[in-house]
Amino acid sequence: MSDKETNGAKVCCESTMDLQPINVILGELVGKKGMLIPVLQKAQKEYGYLPELVLLRIAEELEISPSEIYGVATFYAQFYLEPRGRHVVRICRGTACHVKGATKITDIVAETLGVGVGESTEDMKFVLEDVACIGACGIAPVMMIDEKTYGSVTVNEAKEAVVNFVPPEED
Ligand code: FES
Repeated sequence: MSDKETNGAKVCCESTMDLQPINVILGELVGKKGMLIPVLQKAQKEYGYLPELVLLRIAEELEISPSEIYGVATFYAQFYLEPRGRHVVRICRGTACHVKGATKITDIVAETLGVGVGESTEDMKFVLEDVACIGACGIAPVMMIDEKTYGSVTVNEAKEAVVNFVPPEED
């Protein structure tokens, strides 16, 4: 594997990366107005993050410099340039949740998963995040796994939720 610099952006050659999915995405969206963000979103959904080779492929197809693509991908918090867990466990750290014991929820989930906040589990099943108020203060403390919300969650319920979590597509 070799690295090189292209317009200030670090480029790495992951020769085994399957570019078929990004080619399909580009085929669907290229030519449409303002397609860069949708392309990045779809690519991230497909790959779980934005691999360097995928960003280069996008840059090539859209005739945008790699450094510009990296600029966009690093500007928005929604994009990730490193692999991360497939399912996002979010624990609210807003005031209402904090007062209702969110720290204990975070601690037990972190211990159960064996990771710290911001880290992914070794099997890449989960990534643990803490987030600002998600607007559900009435059911604080609040935890989410992907789109599923756990309100007024207890320490035991939070632990069970991650241990027993089955993604909808695996039901
Ligand atoms: S503080 Fe947690 S939902 Fe508002």
